[in-house]
Amino acid sequence: MRRIGAGLAGLGMMAGAGCMPQQAEVSGRALFAENCAVCHGETGRGDGPAAAGLTPPPNDLTLLAAGNQGVFPLVAVMSQIDGYTRTSPDEAMPDFGALLDGPLVPVDTGDGVFTPTPAPLYALAEHLRSLQR
Ligand code: HEC
Repeated sequence: MRRIGAGLAGLGMMAGAGCMPQQAEVSGRALFAENCAVCHGETGRGDGPAAAGLTPPPNDLTLLAAGNQGVFPLVAVMSQIDGYTRTSPDEAMPDFGALLDGPLVPVDTGDGVFTPTPAPLYALAEHLRSLQR
């Protein structure tokens, strides 16, 4: 799975935890460290080593709920990650559609309907939920 953010995956720690999601057990924390922290920072506050010079800057991902009347915007977050909501090909954040390669888990997206969602994508979103302050 080196193709997920190949150039960004060099953090290399936690090898294996998020790379081959054979089970539904996927570590959102490890996926975040491998694919996202370089821009959004280890704790999600937008202060990763690659953040400087990006326009617009990477969002502070710990304020997603605060910016949405206290409700974590699960669907919008997953759309942003997999690239569904991409409007322009030159947005600073790469899309991670390759994370869609995973077993599907049923996720209640807020309307009581369970939508089959790739486990790695959902694990990432739940990790972001856990970072909210
Ligand atoms: C190359 C730098 C970079 C990487 C890597 C990156 N992002 Fe981003 N991200 C950005 C930038 C810049 C924005 C804001 C503008 C945009 O949409 O491109 C953003 C926006 C977001 C948003 C939208 C926040 C909001 O307020 O709507 C979410 C959610 C997000 N990123 C999550 C992630 C996750 C999860 C990963 C890892 C799978 C990731 N990002 C990897 C740069 C990055």
